[in-house]
Amino acid sequence: MIQVLALLLLAGNEATAASTNPRLKLSFQDLRMRHGLRTYELERSCCYDSLLLDEERGRLFVGGKNYLASLSLDNISKQDKKIYWPALVEWREECNWAGKDINAECMNFVKILHLYNRTHLYACGTGAFHPICGFVEVGQRAEDSVFKLDLGNVEDGKGKSPYDPRHMAASVLVGKELYSGVATDLMGRDFTIFRSLGPRPSIRTEQHDSRWLNEPKFIDVFWIPESENPDDDKIFFFFRETAVEGAQGLGKHTFARIGQICRNDMGGQRSLVNKWTTFLKARLVCAVTGSDGSHTHFDHLRDVFLLPTRDKRNPLLYAVFTTSSTVFKGSAICVYHMNDIRRAFLGPFAHKEGPNYQWVSYQGRVPYPRPGMCPSKTFGTFSSTKDFPDDVIQFARNHPLMYNPVLPHGQRPIFLQTNVDYTFTHIAVDRVAAADGHYDVLFIGTDIGTVLKVVSVPKESWENMEELLLEELQVFKDSSPVTSMQISSKRQQLYVGSRTSISQLPLHRCGIYGKACAECCLARDPYCAWDGSSCTRYMHNTKRRFRRQDVRNGDPNTLCSGDPQRSSVPEKKVFGVEGSSVFLECLPKSLKAQILWTYQKTSSAIQKEVLLDDRVMKMERGILLRSVQRKDAGLYHCHATEHGFTQNLLHLQLEVIHAQQAESLSFSWEEEPTQPFHRKLWYQDFLQLVDHPNLSTMDQVCEQLWSHKSHQPKKKPPLPPPLSVKAKNQKWKHLGEKRKARSRRMHEVPRAEREPRSTDIW
Ligand SMILES: *[C@@H]1O[C@H](CO)[C@@H](O)[C@H](O)[C@H]1NC(C)=O
Ligand SMILES: *[C@@H]1O[C@H](CO)[C@@H](O)[C@H](O)[C@H]1NC(C)=O
Ligand SMILES: *[C@@H]1O[C@H](CO)[C@@H](O)[C@H](O)[C@H]1NC(C)=O
Repeated sequence: MIQVLALLLLAGNEATAASTNPRLKLSFQDLRMRHGLRTYELERSCCYDSLLLDEERGRLFVGGKNYLASLSLDNISKQDKKIYWPALVEWREECNWAGKDINAECMNFVKILHLYNRTHLYACGTGAFHPICGFVEVGQRAEDSVFKLDLGNVEDGKGKSPYDPRHMAASVLVGKELYSGVATDLMGRDFTIFRSLGPRPSIRTEQHDSRWLNEPKFIDVFWIPESENPDDDKIFFFFRETAVEGAQGLGKHTFARIGQICRNDMGGQRSLVNKWTTFLKARLVCAVTGSDGSHTHFDHLRDVFLLPTRDKRNPLLYAVFTTSSTVFKGSAICVYHMNDIRRAFLGPFAHKEGPNYQWVSYQGRVPYPRPGMCPSKTFGTFSSTKDFPDDVIQFARNHPLMYNPVLPHGQRPIFLQTNVDYTFTHIAVDRVAAADGHYDVLFIGTDIGTVLKVVSVPKESWENMEELLLEELQVFKDSSPVTSMQISSKRQQLYVGSRTSISQLPLHRCGIYGKACAECCLARDPYCAWDGSSCTRYMHNTKRRFRRQDVRNGDPNTLCSGDPQRSSVPEKKVFGVEGSSVFLECLPKSLKAQILWTYQKTSSAIQKEVLLDDRVMKMERGILLRSVQRKDAGLYHCHATEHGFTQNLLHLQLEVIHAQQAESLSFSWEEEPTQPFHRKLWYQDFLQLVDHPNLSTMDQVCEQLWSHKSHQPKKKPPLPPPLSVKAKNQKWKHLGEKRKARSRRMHEVPRAEREPRSTDIW
């Protein structure tokens, strides 16, 4: 079984294996220092599971442990407003008596945040296993600096917020009514889809009927109109649950589901009283097909993002899935069209005759009006679900499941990662207008605190898409999983929450791609274009000349021809000592670029490709020439090739110093510091430090030598060495791992083929 899965995953991975590595990786430090990343943390709080974006007021509302916060969307690090909202002491004690951890679980974790009306939010928290909800005054305009919880009016949050802080609840507020998917008991066994808060009586799903809901985990809820008539409006629930159908005899299987209910469902008259009469659910499939026709399913639904389109009845639904298997980590993004979802609900019902029967497609007569249809003038004559005939109600109760699943757009994931040490957790999508069309840019949060920026571009046609992993961004200072995400297209910012903090970052950093038209073009970032002098944000509607962008082909040969090579190729001089090693470093901006080295004896000689062997070795960040010979001297050119386009990145001139010459440059501390030996001393010291793996130590030593040499009065004994011989020797052991860090340097790092003489100088 396991082996079969492995093969399937491999088979599936083959098709998209190329997408595993990002083109650029940016660290948290880099993002914070240079690219406008801002962070926010509440003191004595945590767990920022709920983020609410309010574009009108320009606020990001945050729910965390015992706190609510209101932050500026422009800069979340600015002075915040916050509300302390702890659980009552008696509930905390009761929670503790029930065996829960008083400090970890018996707190108020704010899980639900909605815009309620023009002046108030609606917020719910776990309240130490005693869910509570309340209204938060936020004022009408951005300038009203109100942020106040009406503590006198806190109400029961059962059926709205989970009891357990580890559980999620999904909800949507529509016309002052709250539709939620949540566990409604302390033990977390009674799950329901629940309507509350408005003037109408509360309605829920049938209790303890595994055909309706079977240990569901609710992910998200959306209100989507079906026609111009509001009576046809539906609420769609995304969840995963233990499957009752399919895969019989193979133990528990998790399936991803989409469930629907009508907004105007009032429950039944004689049966299904105050229960949904329009509830239907279907399986959501996200799978890859191997070359042998077998499928690998991603069934663990994790997040859903609704991308509005011009037609509000037909948004796109982007969903994040992982595999349910504990053996393999695999994640996928699938996109669903409303047409495909509606088609599944109009298809055959799943039917099971009795306990010993299989689930089949129901072939009998379906009563009228067809279960799942909303009572409205559009499709029928009923004005309320209470008027539905008994046979309709009976059929609805026994057939909540559709037989056909919902397949994703293109029948396969649009983005997939397997054989990586992380999984996807969240997604936000931005539709970007580029010179050659619209692109949906995906921002995918992971369980290691990174965000992947991905764009799908057409390969030959718009039917055959290719995914580009543009960036891998480390958005937190630690590697906490991403637990919430919001995007503001208007402000071009992304907001990402985790257990420990919230980060805000811009959706693009065009300048990072480089200072040449070709580099900007090769990035294929729909946000960015070449404006004639730099790589900047592309704005579709501005009539600026010289805006060059080619997301689809990323071909600088056509796009950038006639553009003067702006930045000349940098040149560097490198020294090598005969018999020792020298490292020639060349780092392309893009991790996708292929590096090629060429060599010429003099600038007028022919360039030849540098051939690799035991002596000339290709490293991650350049080439290492071991046991340098005099004939190695000359010009080395580093070329980067990406997407069929080659750029010259660097010229290095290598000079080789005679071994004896280097040897004769020994030197003692008592000598004059101003002599020409000055630089050669540095050389000698490098010989001492050969292969020393710790670069910062090396810098330190050099720095000390220099300052010592230039500032010390004459005839003074040297400073003690910064490292003992023993410590140095210990570092030697780590040579292998540290070599990469060492080669960060543009300097040569000569390597003596002998024991270090640590005591010679010190
Ligand atoms: C954001 O606010 C913080 C705190 O007031 C401030 O230090 C920082 O400079 C601001 N950043 C920007 C880009 O405005
Ligand atoms: C919004 O709702 C709150 C809570 O019910 C109420 O106190 C407030 O008056 C309402 N505001 C408006 C503008 O209706
Ligand atoms: C290198 O040495 C410095 C100073 O002795 C030390 O602070 C640093 O942790 C060392 N780094 C590594 C990677 O060993």
